Amino acid sequence: MSATITLTRITDRQDLTIRPATDLSLRGTIRVPGDKSISHRALMLGAIAEGETTIEGLLLGEDPRRTASCFRAMGAEISELNAEKVTVRGVGLGQLQEPADILNAGNSGTTLRLMLGLLASHPGCFFGVTGDSSLRSRPMSRVVKPLEQMGAMIWGRKDSALAPLAVRGQQLKGIHYNSPIASAQVKSCILLAGLSATGKTTVTEPSLSRDHSERMLQAFGADLSVDPATNSVTVTGNAAVLKGQTVIVPGDISSAAFWLVAAAVVPGSELVVANVGVNPTRTGILEALAMMEADITLENQRVVTGEPVADLRVRHSKLKSCKIAGSMIPRLIDEIPILAVAATFAEGTTVIQDAAELRVKESDRLAVTASELNRMGAKITELPDGLEITGGTSLVGTEADSYTDHRIAMSLAIAALNARGTTTIRRAEAAAISYPNFVSTLRQVCAPTN
Ligand code: S3P
Repeated sequence: MSATITLTRITDRQDLTIRPATDLSLRGTIRVPGDKSISHRALMLGAIAEGETTIEGLLLGEDPRRTASCFRAMGAEISELNAEKVTVRGVGLGQLQEPADILNAGNSGTTLRLMLGLLASHPGCFFGVTGDSSLRSRPMSRVVKPLEQMGAMIWGRKDSALAPLAVRGQQLKGIHYNSPIASAQVKSCILLAGLSATGKTTVTEPSLSRDHSERMLQAFGADLSVDPATNSVTVTGNAAVLKGQTVIVPGDISSAAFWLVAAAVVPGSELVVANVGVNPTRTGILEALAMMEADITLENQRVVTGEPVADLRVRHSKLKSCKIAGSMIPRLIDEIPILAVAATFAEGTTVIQDAAELRVKESDRLAVTASELNRMGAKITELPDGLEITGGTSLVGTEADSYTDHRIAMSLAIAALNARGTTTIRRAEAAAISYPNFVSTLRQVCAPTN
């Protein structure tokens, strides 16, 4: 019923070793940490609003910590971070202070890209921004180019494509931006810039990406409208005062996904993941697992501070392959590594396409998912924009590497639960980016007393 789970610390690196018993099954009721996307946005909007914002359920991962430290450096008063209650006393729209040092977003693309929209629209202020080696290799042109169309002044390596970047804030003008990619980071960056721009700013995307910014901006009082027929959002600049709010952050469906797949593939399992955000722009994972004939039910559905929430019950079942492509991709963009784990144990061949965006995430997730799961005996072929996964393979424990990517580290851990023998995941500390207590929950669900 159990598994041996060991964490070995080597300086600041951690190896996670997992050896499941042959009769392991996962049981219990668990909660996952707060949604990462909503946590970032609550901190940022709180920082630029007037008055006090209260955040309950904030994710205490490395990424939101970066957002908090960047906005503290620009004058927002943010209390000590904890999951119960964080208060943010905002500076007011357009009132961020020029920081005395370079803003460091660490590993967090959301921090850097969303923040750029705000920095670029602060006339007279100068900002330097950077990140860790992963973030410094990720494309920034996707936000720099539209911001330049609005009148922004931004400089950086490779024709301003890569951080570190330098920004001199300007009075921006509203534009209509037809984004070539469905990206919530791009959409949100431009909308945040549009808050202080002259006139209206519209973003149209090829298919709908997560809409947490739209929901929260409306709740804070922005003049924002959405046109679902064209996947467009319009914000009117300087039209309203943003007012501090209470935000209750639901559990992150991207973190819940690990347990949904774990219980679906490990025989005899039944888990309840309580209090999970089920915003329709994020539930592609539930639809994909339903196509694979996973047994998942949504219980106790409700709406909490503008976001749909439910408890998810998952029981082991025999999975079938499926095809995932098109407009579904942005709605499960972060879940593709763990879906690849599910597909490895499913009957038939699963094909994932239109997911080239995965090549520019925290790691090249197409390459790394294929290489690390194949080390364990999976049969995954990389496609230019996806993966082809031949299911029904039995995995064997071995050494694998997270490539410092949090979602890869946790996907490999779940694969290890259904592998024969011992798996060691190098650089597993990466999980703390989005899920600081992942290993303790892993121990909890594997405990024989459950
Ligand atoms: C995020 C948007 C997604 C996602 C990332 C978080 C956000 O990125 O992969 O983990 O909070 O806006 P893209 O918008 O670049 O696809």
